[in-house]
Amino acid sequence: MSIKLLEVNKYFFAPTENIVMERGEGIYLWDSTGKRYIDCAAATFNLSLGYSNQEVLEAVAEQADKLVHITSSYMSEPVAKLVEKLVEVTPKSLTKIHLKVSGGSTANEGAIKMAQFYNKKSGVISLFRSHVGQTIYTMNASGLGFRRQPFASLGNSGIVHVPPAYCYRCFYNQKPCSCGMLCAERIEEFIKYAGNDSISSMIVEPILGNGDNIVPPKEYFVKLRELADKHHFTLIFDEIQTGIGRTGKMFAADYFGVEPDIMTIAKGLGGTGFQIAAIATKEEYADMDSHYHSFTYGSNSLASAAGVKTLEIITRPGFLDNVTLVGNYIIRRLNEMKEKYSFIGDVRGVGLMIGFEIVDEKGEESLELTTQIKNIAFENGLIMRTSRYGIGNVLKIRPALILTLEQAKEICEILEYTFDQIEVH
Ligand SMILES: Cc1ncc(COP(=O)(O)O)c(C=O)c1O
Repeated sequence: MSIKLLEVNKYFFAPTENIVMERGEGIYLWDSTGKRYIDCAAATFNLSLGYSNQEVLEAVAEQADKLVHITSSYMSEPVAKLVEKLVEVTPKSLTKIHLKVSGGSTANEGAIKMAQFYNKKSGVISLFRSHVGQTIYTMNASGLGFRRQPFASLGNSGIVHVPPAYCYRCFYNQKPCSCGMLCAERIEEFIKYAGNDSISSMIVEPILGNGDNIVPPKEYFVKLRELADKHHFTLIFDEIQTGIGRTGKMFAADYFGVEPDIMTIAKGLGGTGFQIAAIATKEEYADMDSHYHSFTYGSNSLASAAGVKTLEIITRPGFLDNVTLVGNYIIRRLNEMKEKYSFIGDVRGVGLMIGFEIVDEKGEESLELTTQIKNIAFENGLIMRTSRYGIGNVLKIRPALILTLEQAKEICEILEYTFDQIEVH
């Protein structure tokens, strides 16, 4: 059976690694040889409740007996419940929910459109290193240029990229204690040169997910809010990775204490892998008729039922506290390891959105070593992804949010064991 699965690679658009995954449960995955892995990427950072969460599966099975899918033109019970729950858990000023999107990219694109529809401007500010999505527009808006390189004819459609608040390697060569949030201040210059009145929105991942797990200081977001209000543009938080409990708060907006005008949500909302996404907005953005941005599988009934159950589980007393507890534990242990292993350059993260930089003896990014550590960890049964789709030097630890302290200890032990196998320390 598994041999046939591997053979099929020759027909496959993207041949996969020489390994067949067979079963998942909680934070664990098993391959066809029976080897067990801890998945620190929670699949594609989307399994907030881990593999095969039974409660979500039961809710979906119950929904499947009634209705698998209807057009989003009709209201249905799971959709009504999901909308209500999302309004409950998102920041107070976000009172409208758009569910007719098919994933993170289309949620982000919808948010940008809503801003353009609302303020009748077109320009978009986005961060270097951001991943906004894979549609042509969101790929253009993304701050990882290598992904648009093969598509030479793309125009930039009024997108302005600005450096993120990356204190460890500051674009402006500043120190956090004395910089006066220069990276946020300088955005005003970009706005000026873009044409003062042309900026419609700024889309920001509160913690850059694919782009190196960069955690800005809290004041950065205060400054962005001020800029958005001053220049009348829409502040969009892309919470596709940071949302649904990943930071130990329901949203990173809660952690940073700043409310955006629009927030996009996807990945973790499906709990155990169902395809559901949403755009949450302030009241005034709901004037855009949804037929301007509406996808066939948006608000699918099964996925909506999964979303409702996921939110119910994540809002249970103690759930988010545990994310903070186990996250802090891993961060503390990694900081201890940093003292011992010179190739760990920086450890940063909030909750279970953790990353650490791998550097060479000069403190420069070491891609080679990063990949080596990732591969040895995999051999040792720990799945980690590297940043910037394999061209970055940050290893990411983002397991399912159901992680226990015992399992967090196990992750750290495998990490230490892996680091011990690396020669340059
Ligand atoms: C922060 C962020 N935004 C947008 C997206 C795009 O989401 P999707 O792959 O569901 O289109 C991703 C996916 O990795 C993401 O991490």
